[in-house]
Amino acid sequence: MKAPTPPQLRKLKAAAKTAAGRAYAPYSRFTVGAAILTASGKVYSGCNVENASYGLTNCAERTAIFNAVAAGEKKLRLQCVVVYTPTDMPTAPCGACRQVINEFGPKARILSICRGKGQISSSTHELLPDSFGPASLG
Ligand code: THU
Repeated sequence: MKAPTPPQLRKLKAAAKTAAGRAYAPYSRFTVGAAILTASGKVYSGCNVENASYGLTNCAERTAIFNAVAAGEKKLRLQCVVVYTPTDMPTAPCGACRQVINEFGPKARILSICRGKGQISSSTHELLPDSFGPASLG
């Protein structure tokens, strides 16, 4: 999958950062924003949404992807996922989010950025080798 253009990347980073500001994270106080670029060039974003029943928390990455599906993206194909945290170190997607990213973006690029300088760039395959996905069902 081709890399986002510099303007697309700027837009994704800005959208992920804005989304982090919308996080509902009163329990962990760990705010996360995510923005996705679809193969058709659209950007969707999402934040983490926690719950008093902690296990019901939805991560930023999944919120962004579900947001795209809910907006009518019938054949969603992820080109790039940007994750932003206002921390010194970047945050890689959790296991559940890796599985959901794989569903819609087996060839995607995942970039984690933060307030600090560090970043992590990985392919879906690097994050989830030997994956179970749509093709596994035959
Ligand atoms: N979180 C995300 O939103 N994305 C990740 O990839 C890692 C974790 C959220 C879930 C929870 O609201 C908070 O960060 C602390 O785990």
